Amino acid sequence: MTDITGATRVAAVIGSPVRHSLSPALHNAGFAASGLDWRMLAFEVAAGDGAAAVAAMRTLGIAGLAVTMPHKADVAAAVDELDPSAAMLRSVNTVVLRDDGSTLGASTDGPGFVDSLAAAGFAVAGRRVVVLGAGGAARSIVAALGAAEAADVALVNRTPAAAEACAELAPVARVGSTADVDAADLLVNTTPVGMGSDGGLPVDPSVLRPDLAVCDIVYHPLDTPLLAAARELGAQTIDGLGMLVHQAVYQQVLWTGRAPDPAVLRAAAETALAARP
Ligand code: ATR
Repeated sequence: MTDITGATRVAAVIGSPVRHSLSPALHNAGFAASGLDWRMLAFEVAAGDGAAAVAAMRTLGIAGLAVTMPHKADVAAAVDELDPSAAMLRSVNTVVLRDDGSTLGASTDGPGFVDSLAAAGFAVAGRRVVVLGAGGAARSIVAALGAAEAADVALVNRTPAAAEACAELAPVARVGSTADVDAADLLVNTTPVGMGSDGGLPVDPSVLRPDLAVCDIVYHPLDTPLLAAARELGAQTIDGLGMLVHQAVYQQVLWTGRAPDPAVLRAAAETALAARP
C-alpha cells in the first residue's frame, strides 16, 4: 500500500450510524489491489446534513462519496446532476466530484444486485422474480430487474401503498402476493427479517422449492434462516454480500475509472464481518 501523501485522493462514506459500515474495508482493499493512491474514511453525518456533506465534499475536494442511510434522498436533491437511475429513484448512493468541481449522483445498488446474480450464474433476462419488501433497496432492485429484462417482477409487501409505488419503477413490475412464488424462478428478500439474531423468515418456507433460486440482501448474518432453508432443499442461494460487493465495484469505476476485482472486495468484507460481535 502506498504511503498517504498530499496527493492521496480521499473518498468517504457518509451515514448515521456509519461506524459498522463495511465500505471502508471493501474500498480500501480495492484501491490497494488496484495500486491506486486512494483511501476511504467513514464520516458520521447527522440526519438532515446530507446537503452540507455534499457542499463539504466540494470545499475539501473529497473525490468520491458513498452515501448510506439516512442521506440518499437528501443527497439526490443536493448534487448538480443525477444519472438516469438515480433520477428515477430520487436516491443517490454514490457521488463523484468531477474535474470541473460539479457533482454527479448515481445509484449503483440495482446494477450491483443484477451483477451479483450474474456472478452467481443467474441470468435475469426472461425470468420471473418475486421481491419481498418495497423499501429503498427494493426500489433499486426492481428498477434494475426491469432494465435487465426480467419477464415479471411481483412485489410482496406488508404495506400495499409502498408496493404500488415500487411497481411504477419498471413496466414488468406489479403488486403480487406469496402465491406468485409458485411460478417464480427467483425469490429476493429485501426486508430486514432474518437480520442479526432475529432468526425469522420473511416468507413461509413451504413456498421454497429446489428449482427456486433465493437471494437475501441481508448479510449479517451471511447465512440467513431463509438462505439456510432454501439450501437445505437443494436450491441455489445468493447471499447479500454479492450486492454490496458489486455495487462497490461500480462505485470505484465511477470514482477512479478502474474496476477492482470483486473477489478482493468480498474477501475484505468477509474479514470485516467475521470481526463483528
Ligand atoms: P431499505 O431502505 O434498506 O430497503 P426500508 O426502506 O426500511 O429499508 O424498507 C424495508 C422494507 O422491509 C419495507 O418494505 C418494509 O415494509 P413496510 O413498507 O410495510 O414498512 C419491510 N419490512 C420491514 N420490517 C418488516 C417486517 N418485520 N416484516 C415484513 N416486512 C418488513
